[in-house]
Amino acid sequence: MSRDIPQLVVNDRVFRPFIDADEIAEMVDSIATRINADYAAEEITALIILKGSVIFAADLVRRLRMPVRMEFTRASSYGTSMTSSGAIALEGLFTDVADRHVVIIEDIVDSGTTITELRKHLSVLQPRSLTVAALLSKPAMHQEPVTIDYLGRAIGPEFVVGYGLDYAEYGRHLDGIWVLDDESETLA
Ligand code: IMP
Ligand code: MG
Repeated sequence: MSRDIPQLVVNDRVFRPFIDADEIAEMVDSIATRINADYAAEEITALIILKGSVIFAADLVRRLRMPVRMEFTRASSYGTSMTSSGAIALEGLFTDVADRHVVIIEDIVDSGTTITELRKHLSVLQPRSLTVAALLSKPAMHQEPVTIDYLGRAIGPEFVVGYGLDYAEYGRHLDGIWVLDDESETLA
């Protein structure tokens, strides 16, 4: 059946447009404006969660006006390629946190486990402040209350790819965000 909206195949599934590049740029602008206002001339450490946050972080840090240190850590959840399991592995956890303003940069908050675990690990290292900037959040999926200090926007419990977000490692390079099109049949 032909439809007016464009479709995109990533791996074996069909996606449709969800948030375009212009709208993403506005979301990133808005987050940067809030961080710039809150920290003014204070130095911050941007802690970027690999891999999904790399593209969002690259755009966000270039809009920040204070001195910024960039650090990276890897968080992976044990789950399928579309659901997180609630258990995460932190690799190369960054520990130079004491007395620093740390802003965790996350692409999307789903169950909230990644952020909750990271906050737990980092807060015992006595940062001067610890906040979270996330481009997207799925409130319906949060397993417990999650504080997101700087949020782009909330979305439903749907699965999205693009702008750093992957489906089984594909789709990260797309400049817009696409949502799984449930009405389309899974490709054989
Ligand atoms: P959480 O620990 O359940 O909050 O999972 C957060 C991580 O799961 C994110 O950093 C993403 O890597 C991944 N994730 C959650 N939802 C999506 C999605 O819709 N598309 C792609 N990755 C997602
Ligand atoms: Mg991922």
